Amino acid sequence: MDPTVEAILACVAVVIIAATIISAVVLKICKVLKRVPNHPTPTSVPNPGLTSVDESSSFHPSLQIISMSEILAATKNFSPDQIIGDSRFGFVYKAELSNGLKLAIKKLHPDAFQGFMEFRSELEILGKLRHRNIAHVLGYCVSGADRILIFELFENGDLNLNLHDLWSSSERNYMSHARFPLSWETRQKIVKGVANGLAYIHGLDKPIIHRDIKSSNVLLDSDFEARISDFGLARTIDYRHSHVSTQAAGTAGYLAPEYEEAIAVATVKGDVYSFGILMLEVATGKRPDLPVDLNGESMSFIEWARDMVAQNQEREILDPIIWVWGRRNQLREANIKEYFRIALMCANDSLKKRPAMRDVVELLA
Ligand SMILES: *[C@@H]1O[C@H](CO)[C@@H](O)[C@H](O)[C@H]1NC(C)=O
Repeated sequence: MDPTVEAILACVAVVIIAATIISAVVLKICKVLKRVPNHPTPTSVPNPGLTSVDESSSFHPSLQIISMSEILAATKNFSPDQIIGDSRFGFVYKAELSNGLKLAIKKLHPDAFQGFMEFRSELEILGKLRHRNIAHVLGYCVSGADRILIFELFENGDLNLNLHDLWSSSERNYMSHARFPLSWETRQKIVKGVANGLAYIHGLDKPIIHRDIKSSNVLLDSDFEARISDFGLARTIDYRHSHVSTQAAGTAGYLAPEYEEAIAVATVKGDVYSFGILMLEVATGKRPDLPVDLNGESMSFIEWARDMVAQNQEREILDPIIWVWGRRNQLREANIKEYFRIALMCANDSLKKRPAMRDVVELLA
């Protein structure tokens, strides 16, 4: 071959190869750029299964389907000033739609759910729940990597604030009026409400385990009726697929002892334990996750409660703030003792000794 022709052919080959490589790189860059969502979230592990989904849904007739742009407007672009709660699944923002409807918007951490299908099927289940003691998921909105849950907003805040955060003017104080200490009657009403709500989800054809019952997951409506929220950990028990393990999880202080073993599977009786702890917290006003100092000895909240009840000290360990209602002598001793008896029955170390929630409802009636 003529060396000139050979040189030209070589040049052409080099140009073609270079062009192919460059165009491949350019295409790749374009693809990567396209994948960047509109509202980037600080995540280290982008979930490729989610990025193409753009979907909103409403489960409730009171709520029109809401777009991401409406949510951004209603939360002032997820302004920190609008934050009213902080769950392990993400921040909760107070939102007001242009039509005046007030909502609680939970923006999930990008890694809070495995994939969009799982997210949606769980929400389809939660969206169908209807009970006066359940905080209803009104809808959801998915855009890029953002996943948003839409809830009713309860102006009285959560039970945790109403028990432990009465006097502080914390940033999380989003109540429109001053908080008064909860009376003994109101505390009993709240506990009955939580029991009713739990009995409802445990009694469904496919029972739901809440898995994280605690005071900050109990919201209070304007009549101080309890609304159980944060079903983020909830899983339906599908007995036909009972080999699928539902991993236990929860919050220190409320966690049933059997959950401390890593292999433990979540059960409805785990919720019953947490409910018993919640009852003790509501009555005593003490935080279950903190140790209690008794005569210089530090013990866990539950050990302390068992000790005091064994010594007939039920009235003495009631939250002293109850007495601002000035009705110390009107509280019936038998009523208080029965309350603690039920609470400790629920918080029994042995799963088999704990009653079912429907029995607890009857005991509390
Ligand atoms: C659990 O219940 C049994 C039977 O009612 C009782 O004897 C036991 O003391 C309880 N244990 C705890 C740790 O509460």
